Amino acid sequence: MSTITLSKSDAAGVRTDAVVIGVVKVGGGVALPAGTESLNAAYGGNLVEVLSGLGATGKAGEVTKVPGPKPGKSANLIAVGLGEAPDGALKTEDLRTAAGAGIRAAKTSQSVAFALPTPDADCIRAIAEGALLGRYSFTAYKSSDGSTDEPGNLTVLTDLARNKEAKAALERAEVTADAVRQVRDWVNTPPSDLNPADFATQAADLGKEYGVKVEVLDEKALAKGGYGGILGVGQGSANPPRLIRISYTPKKPVTHLAFVGKGITFDSGGLSLKTASGMVSMKADMAGAAAVIGATVAIARLGLPVQVTTYAAMAENMPSGSAARPSDVLTMYGGTTVEVLNTDAEGRLVLGDALVRACEDQPDLIVDVATLTGACVVALGTKVAGAFANTDTARDRVVDAAIAAGEAMWPLPIPAEMLDKLKSHSKVADLANITGEPWGGALAAAAFLGDFVADGIDWVHLDVAGPAFNEGSANGYTPAGGTGYAVRTLVELAASAG
Ligand code: BES
Ligand code: MN
Ligand code: ZN
Repeated sequence: MSTITLSKSDAAGVRTDAVVIGVVKVGGGVALPAGTESLNAAYGGNLVEVLSGLGATGKAGEVTKVPGPKPGKSANLIAVGLGEAPDGALKTEDLRTAAGAGIRAAKTSQSVAFALPTPDADCIRAIAEGALLGRYSFTAYKSSDGSTDEPGNLTVLTDLARNKEAKAALERAEVTADAVRQVRDWVNTPPSDLNPADFATQAADLGKEYGVKVEVLDEKALAKGGYGGILGVGQGSANPPRLIRISYTPKKPVTHLAFVGKGITFDSGGLSLKTASGMVSMKADMAGAAAVIGATVAIARLGLPVQVTTYAAMAENMPSGSAARPSDVLTMYGGTTVEVLNTDAEGRLVLGDALVRACEDQPDLIVDVATLTGACVVALGTKVAGAFANTDTARDRVVDAAIAAGEAMWPLPIPAEMLDKLKSHSKVADLANITGEPWGGALAAAAFLGDFVADGIDWVHLDVAGPAFNEGSANGYTPAGGTGYAVRTLVELAASAG
């Protein structure tokens, strides 16, 4: 794990293996943002010519590597495109991406300094987050070399190094990045090594380390409590389900947030079995639970004045002689009956129980995070999460937090007809778990969840089936595999609450 510090050092004089700078697109050419003057001087004032000679265009995320001004002696220079943004209008997300792309381009460099524009503390936070997240890789199961090539020392060069807000921004970046990295590790861990009981134990250990209260309901407690959704999904697996509750209660909280996460440690589809290729990435079906746990711990570590109660519903969805059958009826926590017509629509079943339970705590806002539907990926692609809600103001709060945190999210509706279809599709129970029609699958799933939220409680559902797991290769600060999506949004939501 890297350490990160702020420094007023000059970009040309700092002792480091690599320096990351920004390149801005202007007109037909490129320009250097403020803070690179001394470096430019070290290249005889020709740094722009050097970079454009090597093909730099300033396109966001583009990397151009240059030997240091005194080859062999001074740090290598890594110039990363910042797009067309003029200095004043820099988006923090462009800085996060640049820092992430820069640190990956620095390959095995052990120390890396960032001489990117830092007009304010938010920019410092974004750079620090990109730096701490960009060279993450999951090497736990590589036999060749168990160690990572992550850098030891990171330095953000800034005139604000002694500024109070800048120091707070750095701390927030460190704590948030820790949580994101933990979530990525959990998501990437093979499902044989992270079954519901393992996951619950690890979450409880992490919670204890940071002083939050953790309660774990095992299969016996779930049966006693009447959690029919979680039990029904988990009953086909040799690894029994869990529901965990984490609570962080600061003195004089300004609001009470509840987070609910989908924690399917492996989704085979159950008896409605997925295709071979369809289940390959389904170890990531617990990414929502991982994100809400990680975010809760980060909020507690930061001491934010917000009460947080978090539920993670964990189960393994497997086919077997004891698995739930299509046409079985489950009695959910709270008494609603659900006919399971497709055992692969399991996320809504575990979340239904957890949402009813979360409402009993009377929070001001519930946010659930779930890799819920392939349909959401069809609608919004692999980078953008869908945001559904029972009030527009609640949804806007969460979407605004996502934009501020640099996580892509877009509102989607919950048409009233969807709940009608879920109700009428079962001839025997209150609801079916599918509509029986192929249209609007993400909307139908959201409508199902909404039926488990008590009247008068604001609720936002985030379908993160696309952005939670990167099946492609690393880009910006996003690695292949688990991304840690939603942690930054939830931390921002808590930080901006009041
Ligand atoms: N975990 C999947 C959704 C998913 C698909 C996440 C692809 C990430 C990538 C979920 O449990 C599921 O199987 N949903 C079904 C619902 C359908 C049976 C109504 C789906 O999306 O096909
Ligand atoms: Mn499924
Ligand atoms: Zn699933």
